[in-house]
Amino acid sequence: MTTETPGQEIHPGAASPAASTAPWPGAESGQSTTKHFLMCRPEHFAVEYAINPWMDPSAGADRDLAIRQWEELRSVYEGLGHRVSLIDPVEGLPDMVFAANGALVVGGRVYGARFKHPERAAEGPAYLEWFVRNGYDRVREASFTNEGEGDFLTLDHVILAGTGFRTDITAHSEAQEFLGRPVVTLRLVDPRFYHLDTALFPLNGHNVAYFPGAFSPGSQEVLRRLFPHAVIADEDDAVVLGLNAVSDGTHVVVNAEAAGLRRTLEHEGFKVVPVDMSELRKAGGGPKCCTLEIRG
Ligand code: ARG
Repeated sequence: MTTETPGQEIHPGAASPAASTAPWPGAESGQSTTKHFLMCRPEHFAVEYAINPWMDPSAGADRDLAIRQWEELRSVYEGLGHRVSLIDPVEGLPDMVFAANGALVVGGRVYGARFKHPERAAEGPAYLEWFVRNGYDRVREASFTNEGEGDFLTLDHVILAGTGFRTDITAHSEAQEFLGRPVVTLRLVDPRFYHLDTALFPLNGHNVAYFPGAFSPGSQEVLRRLFPHAVIADEDDAVVLGLNAVSDGTHVVVNAEAAGLRRTLEHEGFKVVPVDMSELRKAGGGPKCCTLEIRG
């Protein structure tokens, strides 16, 4: 297990599996990869504004429960051998727990987030600063609105990029140019699935699971062409944010309520690790939203 105090880098000990030798994580088909995640403890978590249909400030959220659920997620990752780094939570940024939105990191290059809503704007610089402080020198401040891994999902040969609610399509080409990886635009059409990572997740470096109803007809066709063997989830799985999952190629960390998806994944040979993120879902988030993957 790897533990770190916020802002410090400690390298994994003997208990962690050896580092991947693949060109980038996920490149070894059918194998699990050891990942490096950045997370932010929900010490200031609250539902104080509504910027997606899941958020109801009058409903109230239990911060202590959110912290317990987040701690469980963190220990699940560490138990699977992944490395977890922490960023200090900032008071007044109740959504900062959703680390996936903080940046997109591929091959050691850090493409910064630029949030659509002013309520979250300060998170972009906070995450970028963490990377600079931790020695990442290939860092790009974005010129266009984008919400990091919320809308950019990385596979071996392509980065899938959502647009329609948050990330501007102009950010897709900015990311492609900076990262040197092909970026494929996918249009989101259902406001409940406002980020790409609420409707789709990579199963490994070359395949995905997704809920077709979240995408425009043209984007559904693109997905069928790119991923003929994808796992297709239904609306019951999607409305519990079952697609907001994290796979290392072997284990899939998924919201416990996504019963149908869990069965399908098991049938496909994945090891399902259910987690309860019900309190964080009140802000529209699940396991993936709490997890920023650092690649390279
Ligand atoms: N309340 C946050 C928002 O609407 C939730 C973000 C969830 N993050 C994600 N990667 N989908 O911005």
